[in-house]
Amino acid sequence: MPEGQPLSGKTAIVTGASSGIGRSIAETLGAKGAHVYLAGRTAAAMDESKKKIEEAGGAATVVTLDVRDVAALRALVTDAAEETGRVDIMVNNAGLSYPSKIIDADPEEWREMYETNVLALLVGCQAAVKAMRACGAEGHIVNVSSVAALRRDSGVYGSTKHAVNTISASLRDELEEDTIRVVTVMPGAIATNFARNFDPEFLEGFVKMTGVEVEVKQGEKLPDELLEKLQPILSQLLGDPQDIADAVLYSVTQPIRVNVEQIVVRPPKQLNL
Ligand SMILES: NC(=O)c1ccc[n+]([C@@H]2O[C@H](COP(=O)([O-])OP(=O)(O)OC[C@H]3O[C@@H](n4cnc5c(N)ncnc54)[C@H](OP(=O)(O)O)[C@@H]3O)[C@@H](O)[C@H]2O)c1
Repeated sequence: MPEGQPLSGKTAIVTGASSGIGRSIAETLGAKGAHVYLAGRTAAAMDESKKKIEEAGGAATVVTLDVRDVAALRALVTDAAEETGRVDIMVNNAGLSYPSKIIDADPEEWREMYETNVLALLVGCQAAVKAMRACGAEGHIVNVSSVAALRRDSGVYGSTKHAVNTISASLRDELEEDTIRVVTVMPGAIATNFARNFDPEFLEGFVKMTGVEVEVKQGEKLPDELLEKLQPILSQLLGDPQDIADAVLYSVTQPIRVNVEQIVVRPPKQLNL
């Protein structure tokens, strides 16, 4: 194994790799030698990350899909297994929040959160276990939850992350006799596009601090440059996506006899999103 390349010869799949935490995880696993399958909706961002990984000598494949499409998500995993002969790491990261109050919300927002944060994660777990067993992998499934799963009043979004924790714990038990470990990663507030569905007035205050001139529109992403400037300014309240990627790298590079169950990574001060 080349020095500094602990994931050399391994295949990793990351959903929601087109932004924030997932993008950082994908680039980190790629830099450590894994062939990374970047899966998400926004091709341009994933193409940029693929280029970065390849320029550093790694391998990457971009798959544009909506994780709510069960057949497409299954095909992502089976294609990766067929093309590289294996699947070693599955990172179920794609997710989103609509922070509306329960009495005001549109049920379509609940549907999107449940289909993305819970159903797609289940499908990703199931497909990954089948592929990992088929190639005899010492596999790692990483389910991205949230500190919202540690609070009982974290709304509908929080309820999806409570579900993620329960699913991860149950799957971890189901796989005790396998060479597949399941880790639940719970980030605190991290500087990403996660807040895109929040009230623009709430976000404008943060944006002003960066000095970057940009109109905040609900549902739309913020420029990478702005997020990169914002995080160091608000480092007491907002973590860097790399902090989460480092935790993921730690868990997937442990020997298979080590069951890393849960990791909470948050900035010094707690912001309850
Ligand atoms: N940032 C935080 O403060 C925080 C805290 C705790 C937990 N989390 C969790 O961390 C995970 C990543 O979020 P983030 O903070 O990195 O937010 P983000 O910057 O908004 O990234 C979310 C990613 O998920 C993708 N995605 C969403 N719905 C999808 C769908 N239907 N099909 C395919 N991809 C989809 C997005 O794709 P597009 O680029 O195409 O939109 C994007 O790549 C989520 O599970 C989130 O709940 C975040």
